[in-house]
Amino acid sequence: MSFPKGFLWGGAVAANQVEGAWNVDGKGWSVADVATYKPDTDVKNYKAHVEISSEAIKKAMDDPDDTYYPKRRGIDFYHRYKEDLQLFAEMGFKVFRLSIAWSRIFPTGEETEPNEAGLVFYEDMLREMKRLGIEPLITLSHYEMPLALSLKYNGWTDRRVIDCFVRFSRVCFERFGKYTKLWLNFNEVDSIIRHPFTTAGIIPDLCGEKGETACCYQALHHQFVAAGIVSKLCHEIVPGGRMGCMLTKLMTYPRTCKPEDVAATQKKNLDNMFYSDVMVFGEYPVMILRDLERRGIEIQMEPGDLHIIKNGTVDFISFSYYMSMTESVDPNAERTPGNTVLGVKNPYLPTSDWGWQVDPVGLRISLIELYDRYKKPLFVVENGIGAKDTLEEDGSVHDDYRIEYFRKHFMEMEKAIDDGVELMGYTSWAPIDLISASTNQMSKRYGFIYVDQDDMGRGTLSRSRKDSFYWYKKVIATNGEDMD
Ligand code: BG6
Repeated sequence: MSFPKGFLWGGAVAANQVEGAWNVDGKGWSVADVATYKPDTDVKNYKAHVEISSEAIKKAMDDPDDTYYPKRRGIDFYHRYKEDLQLFAEMGFKVFRLSIAWSRIFPTGEETEPNEAGLVFYEDMLREMKRLGIEPLITLSHYEMPLALSLKYNGWTDRRVIDCFVRFSRVCFERFGKYTKLWLNFNEVDSIIRHPFTTAGIIPDLCGEKGETACCYQALHHQFVAAGIVSKLCHEIVPGGRMGCMLTKLMTYPRTCKPEDVAATQKKNLDNMFYSDVMVFGEYPVMILRDLERRGIEIQMEPGDLHIIKNGTVDFISFSYYMSMTESVDPNAERTPGNTVLGVKNPYLPTSDWGWQVDPVGLRISLIELYDRYKKPLFVVENGIGAKDTLEEDGSVHDDYRIEYFRKHFMEMEKAIDDGVELMGYTSWAPIDLISASTNQMSKRYGFIYVDQDDMGRGTLSRSRKDSFYWYKKVIATNGEDMD
């Protein structure tokens, strides 16, 4: 058993969680710039956790400070990326997944000409990656759409946003296409239902009579159409370009073998894969359409939309995998938080410091399930553990829990490969500590590299290598043979 030759080992980040420099060189406001620090929210009530309103956005925009808006400062990757890329190269990265902040290129999303300073920033970074022998994997949309599109159009709810996104994507292909063949359209496209504002700029108080849920499905349809268009564009503009979709793989097991639990679980898993089904098969699953109809949700489609979706399918399937959960029809079943979800507790699994259920075998099951379903190459583009690290006086961090997490997941990946799964690569989330997407905390640390900054933005921002840094370096150097 071994990882295939040329396996793409690396790490992944999103612009809004690392770059900072939120208002420099012509960058416009993005939805991430108004995301507030929310460490203590009861994640058992996830709806409250992601609450947003026009009033809250206005309040955030009136506040020039970044203390409670940590994504405005990130980890200053904007100015330090050379040092960070050098550290990734030292670990032996073959690939680095990054996203392009849309509002750096089109500050309000609607300009006819792109912001040259934003383009130059990414070109410099991509050139540096190539110099270091690291292949970029570019996500076009990772929770950072221009805020202006959200305020003016209620985000992706409005069809006109498709054109804005296509214009942005075209510029990315034209200017960055010479640096990489590997692209992803929408990060965790399924997350629109869980956090509509972060994912698609939807503000509930702008949804009117239609209601938020219907707006989400309408916005999702627009994203599917946009994904179809940009898949084709990628193939036309980027020599050898390959476009992937990106799914949050929320692995769910039945809590018991009671048939009702199994049926509820099946529904949950099918709902989770509906998004990649559309982008891989190029059509809406019949059962999803039936379900929407039953719920009185009508998606407005224009003639030609389904044709675009059918003709713009993806080349590979990427996904994030952090945890698993169970499902039960028992309303009193004990629940636990996961990646922007609440699941029923699994008595056989340990949890992370944030309550997420750690399940390496679930990664193998996911890989097999997805490969069997889609029969296209897979890419694990996020996997990792958010933990409370302790920095020792000498700058080291003894994070054996992180090593243990990765080792167990890699072993399961290897078994899936051995079973015949075609896996292109693996990018950990995240190779360097960054701002958490959901809680906006710095103290929820994922990296192999420690960043000296606390939740309030205090610290020198200096970088240091954790124990896991040396371990991952060894894993990459031996292509997964030495995981001890
Ligand atoms: C994924 C997102 O869902 O989970 C990332 O794509 C995010 O942006 C990651 O950072 C981990 O979640 P969190 O909330 O711990 O940052």
